[in-house]
Amino acid sequence: MSSDALSGPPGRWRAFTRAISPRIVECELTHLARTPIDLAIAGVQHAEYVRALVALGCSVQEVEPAPDYPDSVFIEDVAVVFDEIAVITRPGAESRRGETAAVERVLAPLRPLAHITAPGTLDGGDVFVVGKRVFAGRTGRTNDEGIAQLRAALAGHGYTVEAVAVTGCLHLKSAVTTVDDQTVLVNPQWIDQATLSGLDVIEVDPTEPMGANIVRVGAALLYGASYPRTRARLEALGYSPVCVDASELAKAEGAVTCCSLLLRA
Ligand code: GLY
Repeated sequence: MSSDALSGPPGRWRAFTRAISPRIVECELTHLARTPIDLAIAGVQHAEYVRALVALGCSVQEVEPAPDYPDSVFIEDVAVVFDEIAVITRPGAESRRGETAAVERVLAPLRPLAHITAPGTLDGGDVFVVGKRVFAGRTGRTNDEGIAQLRAALAGHGYTVEAVAVTGCLHLKSAVTTVDDQTVLVNPQWIDQATLSGLDVIEVDPTEPMGANIVRVGAALLYGASYPRTRARLEALGYSPVCVDASELAKAEGAVTCCSLLLRA
């Protein structure tokens, strides 16, 4: 196995993370203008993020670094892991396709694997799961063929896959993520909420469009510190997210979910 145990006792949740590439300044950008990224600050924020995952009960392992891949810290995009199977993606950005091999190696002992193959593309950031309902964003990174292959990989495990049109942001999970088994946090500007039928919706504060991305570790939540108004909405509803500053990585169009691959141990 090519990962190093970083911290944390074996627990119910396992998280894989990946160090920030020194080339992150060359990252892909889709909806953001390029602004300078301070590598030292990004590193401190990433370390704090890992500590928060540990504090929330994750056993965290760092996958071998991929310094030649500017976006490799955003490990969420290269696999989607279910209890029954892990799907190795074919990232929509060609520059990211070499990120999958090392992640495949660490997942192979843990789950049967399926693969998205050409001409399909799929980014893990375009997939979220509520029970047996899987939502897959149709974006610049994920195409219909990728969604069809995901559906085929999951069909034998009782999941349904619903395609969701996304506009105005990079990934589906920029626009919507889950906060519990029944509830999603949403930026209504970026998706058609009709696709979320049957789920309870919490909308981000309109002044915090990037605030729909939150990490769920069982009942615990890990959230970016840049969205205090949306956080207040969550707290008013009884949620208590732990917050970390991920503002430097946000300049690379990454958010909190992007920086880990979470699976039930
Ligand atoms: N910079 C994050 C991505 O484009 O995947």
